[in-house]
Amino acid sequence: SLPVPSVQELASQRLEKVPRRYIRADVEDPITNPSDPSLRIPLIDMTRLVNLDSRDTELQKLHSACTDWGVFQLINHGAPNEALRNMKKQNQDFFNLPLQEKKQYAQKPGSIEGYGQAFVISEEQQLEWCDMIFLKALPIHNRKLHFWPQHPQEFRGTLERYAEEVKRVTVSILEFAMGLGLEAHKFSQAFQEGKYEVRMNCYPHCPQPERVIGTSPHADNSGITLLLEGGDTPGLQFRKDGCWVFVEPIANAFVVNIGHIMEIMSNGIYRAPDHRAVVNKWKERLSVVTFCYPGENAEIGPASELFKSEDPYQKLEYKNRITTEDTSVQIYLHARQSRAPA
Ligand code: SIN
Ligand code: FE2
Repeated sequence: SLPVPSVQELASQRLEKVPRRYIRADVEDPITNPSDPSLRIPLIDMTRLVNLDSRDTELQKLHSACTDWGVFQLINHGAPNEALRNMKKQNQDFFNLPLQEKKQYAQKPGSIEGYGQAFVISEEQQLEWCDMIFLKALPIHNRKLHFWPQHPQEFRGTLERYAEEVKRVTVSILEFAMGLGLEAHKFSQAFQEGKYEVRMNCYPHCPQPERVIGTSPHADNSGITLLLEGGDTPGLQFRKDGCWVFVEPIANAFVVNIGHIMEIMSNGIYRAPDHRAVVNKWKERLSVVTFCYPGENAEIGPASELFKSEDPYQKLEYKNRITTEDTSVQIYLHARQSRAPA
């Protein structure tokens, strides 16, 4: 990766115009487009999944959410508010540090881990209006502690605790097999020993929000992704029926989306949705995003119960050991190409 300026520093200069490298090329795809107001990210209540009286209806809702959207907001998920509040505070306190302090945890060339920006590979590349710190949290032996801030002082302990809570929530939602009607262990087992990688984002205010992008459109490579909003400023959008639909932040809810690996595990019944982050003229926005992957030794393929004879994902079964590195995207794209469009 190439060193690029901190966006926070740029924002603090009170420029009237953003530098050319941040201007979006895809201007025909507007930041706000007239979306049907009835388009709302589905809401799933974990207590209604746990409670026997409401389980069947909520499972149906979960299944529809994953089929129609690939994303939902999860409330009453069981992670203590305190753990989430502390994580949000440590995230904010970290980005509030002077640049020189944050730079102690700067990314090394060719790797996304640490403090910096999303993959910058060329001088011509359009830059994103976002600073971040990316840390591998679980399993413990994957931690590279030299990237973990020592200031603020509670940062490390807070992140350790937070990752454990996210893992618990991930395993519990996967025990419901994301509404696919499979046995509890089918999906959850692989994530019990899974990999949990955390990306904390800071999207500073921007003089020309409609000309830039915070995070470019993409789908996640994860099994599932759990996002915690730092506050009540919207920014995250999912593509639905040709529109970009904002996620309206709900305090302490998780935004849960399907990633490529879950798309494969579900045999394509669920799709990893495209999403992006836009920025605000006056307000900074923070988020904490956890990418949840199956464990290093897990074999990833469609659940056999979901096979039909002509299933395009079938060829992935136990043939390709999908890693969480870039190769998985290629294997995945190959599978997606040979499948009829959804
Ligand atoms: C992303 O999905 O990478 C961006 C999430 C966000 O910060 O809103
Ligand atoms: Fe994402």
